[in-house]
Amino acid sequence: MTVEERLNVTVEERLTVSCRRLCKRFADVIVVDHVDLDIRSGEFFSLLGPSGCGKTTTLRMLAGLEQPSSGTIRLGGQDITHVPAHRRATNLVFQQGALFPHLTVAENVEFGLRAERLSQAETRKRANAMLDLVGLAHLRDRRPAQLSGGQAQRIAIARALVKRPPVLLLDEPLSALDLKLQVHMRRELKNLQRELGTTFVCVTHNQTEALEMSDRLAVMNGGRIEQVGTGPEIYLRPATRFVASFIGEANFIDGRVRPGTGDRVVLDAGGFTVETGRGDVPAGPGDQAAVMVRPESIELHTGEPARPAAPNQALGTVTDLLYLGNTTRYLVELAGGVGVTVDTRPTLHPIQTGTPVTASWPADAAVLLPAERESSDGH
Ligand SMILES: Nc1ncnc2c1ncn2[C@@H]1O[C@H](COP(=O)(O)OP(=O)(O)OP(=O)(O)O)[C@@H](O)[C@H]1O
Ligand SMILES: [Mg+2]
Repeated sequence: MTVEERLNVTVEERLTVSCRRLCKRFADVIVVDHVDLDIRSGEFFSLLGPSGCGKTTTLRMLAGLEQPSSGTIRLGGQDITHVPAHRRATNLVFQQGALFPHLTVAENVEFGLRAERLSQAETRKRANAMLDLVGLAHLRDRRPAQLSGGQAQRIAIARALVKRPPVLLLDEPLSALDLKLQVHMRRELKNLQRELGTTFVCVTHNQTEALEMSDRLAVMNGGRIEQVGTGPEIYLRPATRFVASFIGEANFIDGRVRPGTGDRVVLDAGGFTVETGRGDVPAGPGDQAAVMVRPESIELHTGEPARPAAPNQALGTVTDLLYLGNTTRYLVELAGGVGVTVDTRPTLHPIQTGTPVTASWPADAAVLLPAERESSDGH
């Protein structure tokens, strides 16, 4: 029996969420600023961003718990902007899904079906199928106080999923758990989502969590979406300086675009030049621009550069090193005073502080970033 048959979900019920120019103001402060989103049916989508950037407010608008100031929300093509929460086919699970303490695990899950007017037998059958799916059928007669944090959260998710919502909205569902359990639950949640084919929209400020679980993610900053893409797209081709520094470690090299450089952009960084990969970010000769290079993309060599004056290599000096177990992190000051972080495989004899080095990186690892827009946080 397929999961669809077991849970009686039809493919048509799996709808897609789209928002257009969605805004939310509180008094005269705009906290969600013209958000456009297209979430595909059956995908694990995350909204990632720092505290206060508007993630929860966006999710609450999708759930119907907050009325947008302007803009539209569609679910499966139907405009639901003004449909009240209880009539929306979305279900929200919060950080600490509050279970009813006086009900057993099974009764808590069955409670999710209360409004559906099913027979007692059907209710039980569906709740049991859901408990099986989250792997907690053996705890069905326990009370919430007798569960671990991770088990309780899985029951809260089971209670929301038992109604078979086409879209499940999750607000920091794992953040109340300890780190080890979080890591375990990420995989559980992802497997559950994959098995059910339900669209999950998950809010988190944890970049590792978002990268690990999501098919695609949106990075938010100051109420705006800065980029939407898969984890690798966002990590390897960040669209903005904010995205580059929010996800992982990033080195930034500022410079001036050289004239007449064909389809790759060459940047004069003072003591050396950077040739970027083929990008779609326009930069004209003489423009001030920045490139991003990830620390693991840079290699260090002691001694003179193999090809003097070639782009994407710079002379420098090791100013510090940190042994981090699976990597050795060097801090290097390049010609012209640019400081970069370099992550390398650890060796028994690392390069010592004060050693002159040549740093180099491939052109495709140098990502041209657009000029920063005017201050984005007027709030
Ligand atoms: N009811 C409200 N009235 C006024 N301001 C609000 C209200 N709800 C949220 N805000 C403000 O809107 C901004 C966005 O809040 P939101 O809860 O969406 O952030 P978040 O991204 O979920 O942050 P966190 O990661 O801390 O949960 C914050 O500056 C917050 O103070
Ligand atoms: Mg929040």
